[in-house]
Amino acid sequence: MSSDSTPLQSSAVINEAVQTLRDGGLVAFPTETVYGLGADATNPMAIKKVFVTKGRPSNHPLIVHLAAPEKFDQAQVDWVAVLAPWVRDISEDALKLINAFWPGPLTLVFKKNKSVLGEITGGQDTVAIRAPAHPIAQELLRKFKGGVVAPSANRFGKVSPTSAADVRSEFEGELGLMVLDGGDCEVGIESTIIDLSSGDHPVLLRPGVITPKEILAKTGIQVYLAGEELKEGDALPRVSGSLKAHYAPTTPLRLYAPGRVLDALTEFPDIKSRVAVAVWDSESSLGEAGHPSVHFEEVEMPSDSGAFASRLYRSLRDLDQQGWDLILFPEPPAGEEWDGVRDRLQRACFGSGPSSSSHDSN
Ligand code: TXA
Ligand code: MG
Repeated sequence: MSSDSTPLQSSAVINEAVQTLRDGGLVAFPTETVYGLGADATNPMAIKKVFVTKGRPSNHPLIVHLAAPEKFDQAQVDWVAVLAPWVRDISEDALKLINAFWPGPLTLVFKKNKSVLGEITGGQDTVAIRAPAHPIAQELLRKFKGGVVAPSANRFGKVSPTSAADVRSEFEGELGLMVLDGGDCEVGIESTIIDLSSGDHPVLLRPGVITPKEILAKTGIQVYLAGEELKEGDALPRVSGSLKAHYAPTTPLRLYAPGRVLDALTEFPDIKSRVAVAVWDSESSLGEAGHPSVHFEEVEMPSDSGAFASRLYRSLRDLDQQGWDLILFPEPPAGEEWDGVRDRLQRACFGSGPSSSSHDSN
């Protein structure tokens, strides 16, 4: 295995990873969003290992990762061939989305083919599919010649990993887990998920860096938020809305409104003495905040939504290991481009603190 600073790309190592998958083993690999914990999507025992290793309840469905066709930018028909073993209907909308955004950080939910294992889908009649853009993920998938299920490579309820070192620290006890090293993930938060299976409207199930606005601009397709635009008689979209907690650090985490750092402390009557406060790099939000018994330390975060997303999990992980009593993050600004970050931060707040394990998450 490579050292943490040397991205691992040799063919020999990828071949070894392919063999590990074929043998029913697990391989953690980089994607452009976060690292995934991969297993052969046709092997029920290997899929079971994913759930056990993560400590994830078996009714939480997994995303199937597929290789892009060799000439994906030229022929729509290639994508149809790639998807055919997995999904029942490939709509016009699906093809437009695929041609605009795959390979990339977009997951699509389809009606599943009969042969797709119930272990993947949590017994539902739909399957989530994505073609990741990271070159190591693509090489692995191309050589494997099959689907790879891969949840984020973190223990259930914890922050998703954005480097090979993060994965190793999540699974320290798992001797022999193969981890492909592709450096730091560029996108930094999980893929946008759009449900195409629930009737006429594509429905946003999880916000990410690909936003409904961008989808509309590139494809003309209107994506609805769950519950929007429902007419009488429409099927209710299936959303994972009950999953409140997720991506949670062990240190308590809260959001503060612009200039209201001290307000965020009122919830903690036994005033915390060491508080890390994330601030925008353009201006210090901490400003005049002062408190007789609290030591604040500022941590700069980018004011661009994409750069912020790219840094978010890295910062949460690092801060979580530095022994703060409380971590404060600024409330993200209004605007769709912040929805992915806002979603992750709110869930991280909800599940944060030492006793977060009872919350529902991935
Ligand atoms: O960026 C990503 O999507 C990363 C990388 C590794 O590809 N993967 C990831 O997987 O975030 P995971 O398992 O941590 O999250 C998958 C999400 C879950 O919220 C799950 O409920 C949803 O996808 N999902 C999977 N199959 C589904 C389905 N058939 N219908 C609705 N939601 C589904
Ligand atoms: Mg996850």
